[in-house]
Amino acid sequence: MFALTGQFTLDGRFGAFGGAFVPETLKPALEELEAAFRQMTDDPAFQEEFLSLLTEYAGRPSRLYLARRLTERLGGARIYLKREDLNHTGSHKINNTLGQVLMAKRMGKKRVIAETGAGQHGVATATACALFGIPCEVYMGAEDVERQALNVLRMQLLGTKVIAVTSGTKTLKDAINEAMRDWVAHVQDTFYCFGTAAGPHPYPSIVRCFQSVIGAEARAQILEKEGRLPDAVLACVGGGSNAMGMFSGFLSDPSVRLIGVEAGGDGVETGRHSASLTAGIPGVLHGAVSYLLQDDDGQILGTHSIAAGLDYPGVGPQLSYLKDSGRAEFLAITDKEALEGVRLLALTEGILPALESAHAVAQAAKMAPQMSPDSLLIVNLSGRGDKDVHTLAGEVG
Ligand SMILES: Cc1ncc(COP(=O)(O)O)c(C=O)c1O
Repeated sequence: MFALTGQFTLDGRFGAFGGAFVPETLKPALEELEAAFRQMTDDPAFQEEFLSLLTEYAGRPSRLYLARRLTERLGGARIYLKREDLNHTGSHKINNTLGQVLMAKRMGKKRVIAETGAGQHGVATATACALFGIPCEVYMGAEDVERQALNVLRMQLLGTKVIAVTSGTKTLKDAINEAMRDWVAHVQDTFYCFGTAAGPHPYPSIVRCFQSVIGAEARAQILEKEGRLPDAVLACVGGGSNAMGMFSGFLSDPSVRLIGVEAGGDGVETGRHSASLTAGIPGVLHGAVSYLLQDDDGQILGTHSIAAGLDYPGVGPQLSYLKDSGRAEFLAITDKEALEGVRLLALTEGILPALESAHAVAQAAKMAPQMSPDSLLIVNLSGRGDKDVHTLAGEVG
């Protein structure tokens, strides 16, 4: 159903987007990473080990579940959920970290570092490092350390050191800055396990490749269940890893709409949001050209989202390209609408989604009633909501 071969054909450019705008010290490390990735994804032994980890350890394939009561409640398109929340560690992030930490092991790296926003990538990296016996340190914005306290404890229990970042807005952007500084200083023995389909080449391609299992499975599963392709697939967008993972399965199917859902925060018109594709302009952040939230002088603007994993002023280069080419559509869902999405899914299906994933659920809830009952939607349920119970307790009455 899923193979890694043939996934890595791009030179790091997606139209006008992408590239590797990094300090000179990091160039050799990125080249080493690209060479290792090309070699390993061509190696049947690597493929076999990765695919076996996905199955035996992470619990793949994840289910494609027909949400009957949600569909009935909304009265329109039939809604399927791609249950990435059921993976080991509770989100799609484990697909990527098993691949990257396996690369780190084979490259003989002595230490792994990562950044994290919601803590899900941090937990997934800590998990893979515990599994392979490699020391791990995770950078996390101080604001996220507070709002995702459960995931901080999980990382610590898994033997990972969590470093709270107090610079800037104390969120994901600042955690990536610090992780990159660490990598520059320890590039010889350290592997930087990057969590989303953004950053300098080759990370967007590597992360998309490991996450493409989502779209490959979803495509085969919907064909098996319905005998045809969906009308649209939806995924929330932080940096873009779950969206690119899902979209990559349907890129060559022009009849399938690809819909990315960004964090509209208090409303895009208020300026307090993280909707880089909806409201940003192209620029360079974290080593690549992509849509960014920036001012006229190119200074990065402060962001806001109730979902820590979406609270980022940039986005991956391939999603930026898909926006400009018109292949994918991007919309923003507010904090309030996302909270309604959590409540809707909890009460109709008994599933508590992550606040990030609830953005995609909320967008589906807006669209489905306008569609005919024989239409099909797939929503990528990127993670489970346990980590957000603390935030939800203050918001949901
Ligand atoms: C459950 C979940 N979904 C989505 C995201 C957003 O990341 P990405 O856009 O890389 O999928 C995160 C990030 O932490 C997350 O934890």
